[in-house]
Formats: sequence, C-alpha cells, structure tokens
Amino acid sequence: MKGIVLAGGSGTRLYPLTMVTSKQLLPVYDKPMIYYPLSTLMLAGIKDIMIISTPQDIERFRDLLEDGSRFGISLTYKVQEEPNGLAEAFILGEEFIGQDSCAMILGDNIFYGGGFTSILRDAVKNAEEKDCATVFGYYVPDPERFGVVTIDDEGRAVKIVEKPKEPESNYAVTGLYFYPSGVAAKAKTVEYSERGELEITSLNQMYLDEKKLLVRIFGRGFAWIDTGTMDSLIDASDFVRIIEKRQGIMIASLEEIAYINGWIDKDRLLKAAESYGKSPYGEHLRTVAQGRIRYEGNQS
Ligand code: TTP
Repeated sequence: MKGIVLAGGSGTRLYPLTMVTSKQLLPVYDKPMIYYPLSTLMLAGIKDIMIISTPQDIERFRDLLEDGSRFGISLTYKVQEEPNGLAEAFILGEEFIGQDSCAMILGDNIFYGGGFTSILRDAVKNAEEKDCATVFGYYVPDPERFGVVTIDDEGRAVKIVEKPKEPESNYAVTGLYFYPSGVAAKAKTVEYSERGELEITSLNQMYLDEKKLLVRIFGRGFAWIDTGTMDSLIDASDFVRIIEKRQGIMIASLEEIAYINGWIDKDRLLKAAESYGKSPYGEHLRTVAQGRIRYEGNQS
C-alpha cells in the first residue's frame, strides 16, 4: 500500500501564524505537525509515502524529512498548485500510486489511542484483500463543520454529506482514508462542488454507492485532533505534552516506530538521535536505543 500526506492548503484560520510558513510545519509541542500524520501511515505499515504541499512550502518539507531513509521509508514530494480539494491528492499521485492501494491522511490530523495500530492494519487488509475503502467516524458536537456520515443499526454507512446545514448524525468523517487499487481513476471522475473543490466526500460516495465503503467509529478515549484553528493547535500541544510527561513515552517519534517495525537498525537509530542534538526528541531516541522503553499495551 502507498500513502499520501496532504499538507497544502491555505491555513487562513491560523493567520498570521501561517502567512510565511506552512501550517503542517508549526510545532505541536515537541515536533513539527507533519510528524504526527507521518507516524500514522508508518504505524499502518506503509513505507512508500508522497508528501503533497504548496509550491512555496514543498522544499521546506524536503529540507526537514529528506528522502525518508532516516525513518526507513521512501519519501517523494509533489506540488499542489492550488488548494483544489482533498480528492485532488489522488490525481496528483496517480503515477506514484500505480496499481497499488493507497491511504491518505491530512497533514493537520493527529490520532492517538489504544489499539490504533491494529485498527490501521485492518483498514490496509480491507483495501488489499476485500477491495473496500475505509473511513473513520468520530462523534463531535459540531458536525456541520465536517463531512458527516449516517450509520445504520449494523454500523454500515448509509449516507455521507459534506458540511450539512442540518446534520443527520454527530459522526464526523476524520482526515484519514484507505482506498483499494483504482482510486486515482475514480478521483478523476469527481466533479467540482459548489464551493469549487474536488471533494473527498464525492469520492467516498462512489464507494458507498458500490457498497464498498466501511466506516469504523473511534470510540471513547480515542483522541482525534484536527489542528486547523488556534485553539485546537494549542489543545494538541497540551494533549501531547500531558501524555508524554505522564507516561514517559513519545507520540509520533518516527525513528522509534521505524526501529520497532524493523525498518532501521540500532546504529541508524543512534545516528538519528545524534542529529537531533540535546533536544528531548534526541534524548528519547537514545533511550529507545538503550532498550529502556517498555512496550506492553499500545504504543502508538
Ligand atoms: P482545510 O482545513 O479545509 O483548509 P486549510 O488548511 O487550507 O485551512 P484554512 O481553512 O484555515 O484556510 O484543509 C484540511 C487539510 O487539507 C489541511 O491539512 C490542508 C490540506 N489541504 C490541501 O493540502 N489541499 C487542499 O486542496 C485542501 C482543500 C486542503
């Protein structure tokens, strides 16, 4: 399976923070925002990842993450000239995806909770073995701001509507999507919406019409933070700081995930640690290399 991090957009809700830098490079406590969505794809077991961003920002991502070998993955970069909508990611990624299945995550979406890794691995399996797409629902008090999914008694999606004025449910569709082979061809048939975007909701509707859309609900205790506003940005930092301090772990430590997945060896991990200097992130990687982190339960 391939993966895409969509890290473009205009970030106007965060002005002036995002006037000269990308939202997805802003700090979320102790690391740049993009580390979090990248960690999600890596936890899903995806090693081949394309980062899409704006013409002005794309080189900053390349400066930060390089070719991905530090994390045992392969990174490629692609420009999105204008924020034409989320479904455009698959059109821009057509060649990169080839005949493969593909996951996509929004660069400003942070997920954290027990059992996440196995939930991700299930979604990969559903795409690769059952030819089904998977999206995730999350109960929110203000569904009108999101794509909203209505679910029947058996947990099947019956309807998805983008930013409905009168939502039929409280389940928002989060910014993480898994699709089977053929997603680029489907994305090319999406038409521009009234607000002038190639909507991911239209793409999901196609899978729903073919009865090939699975919706998995993230339950109590699971955190989904979309960091697009001032308050959610600081909430995300607070959340990460509290969990990390309390449990002595690090969320979205990319080299650590690569090491656990067996994608990099101890030498590589220590070299990476060195490149982060005396920062808490570098210190954490040294602790991991010394085997001083315990891994019972969930580690995502
Ligand atoms: P949004 O939150 O809808 O928009 P935005 O980031 O441009 O911010 P604002 O509303 O403050 O102007 O985008 C969700 C995510 O998707 C975000 O990470 C940016 C990204 N995105 C793209 O990369 N390309 C696009 O065409 C769109 C619409 C969004």
